[in-house]
Amino acid sequence: ATERKALFLFFGGTGDLAYRKLYPSLFNLYKKGNLRSHFAVIGTSRQAMDDDKFREAVRKSLADSGNRADSKEAMDFSSHFYYQAHDVTNTAHYSVLKEAADKLDKKYKLEGNRIFYLSMAPQFFGTIAQDLKSQGLMSTNKDAFNRLVIEKPFGRDYDSAKQLNDALSKSFEEEQIFRIDHYLGKEMIQNIEALRFGNTLVESLWNNRYIDNIQVTLSEKLGVEERASYYDNSGALRDMVQNHIMQIVSLLAMEQPVAFTDTDIRAEKVKALRSLRVYNVADAATNFVRGQYGSINDQPDYRHEDNVPEDSTTETFVAGKLLFDNYRWSGTPFYVRTGKMLADKFTRVDVVFKRPLVDIFAFPQSQNTPLAANVLTIFVEPHAGFSLQLNAKTNDAGFSTEPIKLDYLVDAEKSKETPEPYERLLHDVLKGDGTNFSSWPEVSYAWKFVDQIRRVWDLQEPQFPNYTPHSMGPAAAEELIQRDHREWIYRL
Ligand code: BG6
Repeated sequence: ATERKALFLFFGGTGDLAYRKLYPSLFNLYKKGNLRSHFAVIGTSRQAMDDDKFREAVRKSLADSGNRADSKEAMDFSSHFYYQAHDVTNTAHYSVLKEAADKLDKKYKLEGNRIFYLSMAPQFFGTIAQDLKSQGLMSTNKDAFNRLVIEKPFGRDYDSAKQLNDALSKSFEEEQIFRIDHYLGKEMIQNIEALRFGNTLVESLWNNRYIDNIQVTLSEKLGVEERASYYDNSGALRDMVQNHIMQIVSLLAMEQPVAFTDTDIRAEKVKALRSLRVYNVADAATNFVRGQYGSINDQPDYRHEDNVPEDSTTETFVAGKLLFDNYRWSGTPFYVRTGKMLADKFTRVDVVFKRPLVDIFAFPQSQNTPLAANVLTIFVEPHAGFSLQLNAKTNDAGFSTEPIKLDYLVDAEKSKETPEPYERLLHDVLKGDGTNFSSWPEVSYAWKFVDQIRRVWDLQEPQFPNYTPHSMGPAAAEELIQRDHREWIYRL
């Protein structure tokens, strides 16, 4: 592995994400040699803490993710961590941070490379970015890099996202900004490109001549848990559709990039998103449906979860139909759905091919059931793999056909070796590879699409709750697809 030299500055450095994902991921990069002796981490948050306590907490986070906290490796790794109490709204605090950063840069010979990671309330992103620049925290060494990593949510509609982006742009160039969408770090989401552009068999059929429809399902088993104060202001449309689903759909819909580089891939994703039809009021109302979970047994409905207002109209489920107005996809809809408190935790894409134009096995005296559609399924989680449904002959005496499946499932052993999304994404940031991050144009087109649905929904009081926990959502999600004489492939 190539060693990458950098100073990491984590804002929100004592937060849940940092301990649960970020530090264990950095540790994996350390074990693999992507980080060795030339790196340092400054964690900041408002609370007071000394370096030793911080390092202890970091080692505990390693232990919680399956490492030995007292190993030499864990001790050495955590010795690169430093803590600095910091109030992000106090400009004077940034000069203290700058001094600490400069000192560590010298000590570990980091050559000025800096990664600023913002994992905290988004209302502070703009201020932080501006103070990082004005207070001299960004390296001025011309061979060094300054990179800004930001967690979601990136705005709550197009206007607020644009405002945020304008604020960041005062300090950072677009190539320096890494907007996290952790779905882009998932193994099987990255595999979409390999599947499509590595296989003649797949890509030559990947269009409206052969594909009837594509279905993207991100179903979650859990309810809102402890995140209601965030979630109730967001809802499934903003929380899952604007980001994760739009990213997956753009990877599925895009044209072949000129080369496998971030610039080329992003250009194609943006082009695809530009041809996504933005609905007018009537079409938004018919092509998107929402839901909110009810109660079951002694389990409360969404409106009685902690920190949710009793009259909340926030949706915990969305299903919708997306249409691209371009040569490749015109007439082939993409159906998407996501929700909380559904039957199972399942992330998958089902690509449904058209049936043969003529079913020669269905002559008048034939007992054969009509040919089934070929379906290519991409399993993202919990298992990783592909499945291809074909029609084949049964082995009985007559001649009849049945659907069979060719399955490729990544085995448990291999799955364990698969890097976690955050490890991949942090590695990409170190390399300066923006492939698996959302660029501003992607984010802005996604918001413009989603805003239109939100606008229509905000005009009407929904009839909530409207789905039973552990189901696959409201009846409206079935009607949405049945209206088009189609069915969800993944069903109970
Ligand atoms: C997050 C959402 O972005 O993704 C959560 O904010 C959701 O509400 C989560 O639960 C799902 O991610 P994963 O990786 O568990 O599918």
